[in-house]
Amino acid sequence: MSDDDIKKCLHTRVFGRRLLLVDSLDSTNERAKALIRQGEEEGTAVVAEEQTAGRGRLGRSWHSERGKNLTFSLIVTPDMAPAEAGLLSLCAALAVSRALGETAGLSAECKWPNDVLLNGKKCCGILSEAIPRPGRNPAIVIGIGINVNQSAFPPEIERTATSVMLAAGREVDRAALLAAVLLHLESLYALLLGADRAAIVSQWTEACPMTGTTVAVDAGGTRLSGTVAGFDRDGAMILRTEGSERKIYAGDVTIIQP
Ligand code: BTN
Repeated sequence: MSDDDIKKCLHTRVFGRRLLLVDSLDSTNERAKALIRQGEEEGTAVVAEEQTAGRGRLGRSWHSERGKNLTFSLIVTPDMAPAEAGLLSLCAALAVSRALGETAGLSAECKWPNDVLLNGKKCCGILSEAIPRPGRNPAIVIGIGINVNQSAFPPEIERTATSVMLAAGREVDRAALLAAVLLHLESLYALLLGADRAAIVSQWTEACPMTGTTVAVDAGGTRLSGTVAGFDRDGAMILRTEGSERKIYAGDVTIIQP
């Protein structure tokens, strides 16, 4: 995938217009954070053909075969309360699911807080991180990993992971998929900043068929189980447990009963 391949497909106004395409680096999130410290502004995307230390949520690592997938990070600087930053991950998952429909004809589902599934298996993970900036609002790095043309996975994730190619039965153009994600994300981001949180949450609810399911949540060491009652305006998942409802902002969710 070349710079030109991506630029040819890109129809955004800002997102990805400044693009750093790197052959190999530790983690695109780490590179994006370093760029922010040097004053990089909103919209810059860092894309890598290989990450030697790709990171997932909850201290996990992100495995991705060199040259087969998409691993990238986008810098945004939204004027919003830190508590609402979770909405950005929801926007990113929604953008990926739409781009998969458009470029691969697939019907993807979102899984709270920030996974995208194909046929019940994970094809995309998102890791958003806030970076403080002296005297300014924090910048946020939205890191997105999509298994695109990878055909096999390590034993520890082979039961739960899939790729776009495995689901579509054909190879998919990574540059076109990347450009489509950035375009959808740019328009969802505009909706978010236009203060239309309710629209984002209702679009999310449509793409994420978890409402009514019974789930187990590992929220920072606390294990809870209950029924998903829906999603709140700030992106939290509302969990009904023994008659009371509580908002969950982060955690690892397992669907016990669909
Ligand atoms: C997860 O599902 O746990 C989140 C995975 C996020 C992986 C992406 S790949 C691009 C970016 N750089 C990283 O080091 N991680 C994210």
